[in-house]
Amino acid sequence: MTDKPVPGLIPAPRHLTDTGRHGPYADDVRTRIDPELTERLGPEGYRLTVGRCGVDIAGGGEAGVFWGRQTLRQLLGPDEFRKAPVRPPDRERTVPYVTVEDAPRFAWRGLMLDVARHFMPKDGVLRYIDLIAAHKLNVLHLHLTDDQGWRIGIERYPRLTEVGAWRERTKYGHRASPLWDERPHGGYYTQDDIREIVAYAAGRHITVVPEIDIPGHSQAAIAAYPELGNTDVIDTASLGVWTTWGINPNVLAPTDNTLRFYEGVLEEVLGLFPSPFVHIGGDECPKDQWKASPTAQARIKELGLADEDELQSWFIRHFDRWLTARGRRLIGWDEILEGGLAEGAAVSSWRGYAGGIAAARAGHDVVMCPEQQVYLDHRQAPGDDEPMPIGYVRTLEDVYRFEPVPPQLTPAEAARVLGTQANVWTEVMENQQRVDYQVFPRLAAFAEVAWSALPAPAERDFAGFESRMTAHYARLDALGVDYRPPSGPRPWQRRPAPEGVSLGRPIEGAPPIV
Ligand code: ACM
Repeated sequence: MTDKPVPGLIPAPRHLTDTGRHGPYADDVRTRIDPELTERLGPEGYRLTVGRCGVDIAGGGEAGVFWGRQTLRQLLGPDEFRKAPVRPPDRERTVPYVTVEDAPRFAWRGLMLDVARHFMPKDGVLRYIDLIAAHKLNVLHLHLTDDQGWRIGIERYPRLTEVGAWRERTKYGHRASPLWDERPHGGYYTQDDIREIVAYAAGRHITVVPEIDIPGHSQAAIAAYPELGNTDVIDTASLGVWTTWGINPNVLAPTDNTLRFYEGVLEEVLGLFPSPFVHIGGDECPKDQWKASPTAQARIKELGLADEDELQSWFIRHFDRWLTARGRRLIGWDEILEGGLAEGAAVSSWRGYAGGIAAARAGHDVVMCPEQQVYLDHRQAPGDDEPMPIGYVRTLEDVYRFEPVPPQLTPAEAARVLGTQANVWTEVMENQQRVDYQVFPRLAAFAEVAWSALPAPAERDFAGFESRMTAHYARLDALGVDYRPPSGPRPWQRRPAPEGVSLGRPIEGAPPIV
């Protein structure tokens, strides 16, 4: 959201003819690429001018023109965000005379959707692409695989979805909850679905970054192909797709077979996703099975490694080299720093800023997404009527005061921060409405942080942001977003625990418990 007050705004109306089509009125809007803007503001910068001669959008590149169109939508009013026009065609609508020149602070402005814990059907993903485009975000990171589900069809390994995409039942609430939803849960994207998602995103200047999580968070894959697990430690053939939450001990075996298998998976992934970055997870991989496994220990010895951390690093480095040889770059969660990070790899800093700081100082690119600030599964108010009381309380204001670049970085190190990303883990979000509730309105605050060069957190004008949100809530209404209103959850958004059952409210300040 970038409708900041603009110097020189003259509130005289310019009439636009409503052609009845969705979107800014193509007939009245002139667009062009301006090399001077490319030079000065980069490809995503734009200048929007509404004057007596009409509307002119000049972009540093096609993306800049697209972001300029999003600003024009904001100026046209909330109805512009409806799927179908609410007015009869040929009615005139107005937009103020205005000049807006703007460019993003960060090149990576992302949202991660965890479609593994709860599957989001394709139409929901396309809808989220529209929502993030309206907020001028340009990266959709899809967390496609986890212990609880494998969500992308891989032709050479059909059991990944035949078996791995389905679980028998689901823990309701966090992992200590005594409750179960006894319905089976699942779903996956076919390769045609993925092509559609990627093309739809590309049309909105959004890059889809796929995540295939290795070597932890892999029980769904092991359930489908038991030889991927540590067969000399446990009976992997008896594992199903995981039905509860937390950190799972059943990790991939560090064998050549596993490497070849995932190379096969990634070959298909590269054919579907043109993204320069491919996310390979790397987080939360317990080493107990590797400690107990004669095969893993023999591999450590054969490779001359010091310990199991270095074995994880060997795993990641293998795929870093593999991706680099194919013209792509590896990105992973900040655990990939442990045991030494492969040259060229980038880091998603999630356990706080420390991983990102260490990575930037070591010359690696960083996406800042600290869980303490921008994990949108965390509850947004302390009240008893919040739908699922997990994690820290992180309010709209907290997100508005999030600063992606920590002050201890030098300018050269800070330049390593490619940008920032809000992450949406869906253990307790079983449908789109729950996702909307957690994501909005906080994503609007996040989008402003990712786009604008705001003052230091303490000096940010949150009252000004809140007053601009009044107009933005009307846009979210037009978009059909089930956001959390400032006054608290609406009746259908409340979810008190069933009588007599505690969902386990965590102690404030404690680490999140899912
Ligand atoms: C993560 O939250 N485990 C990346």
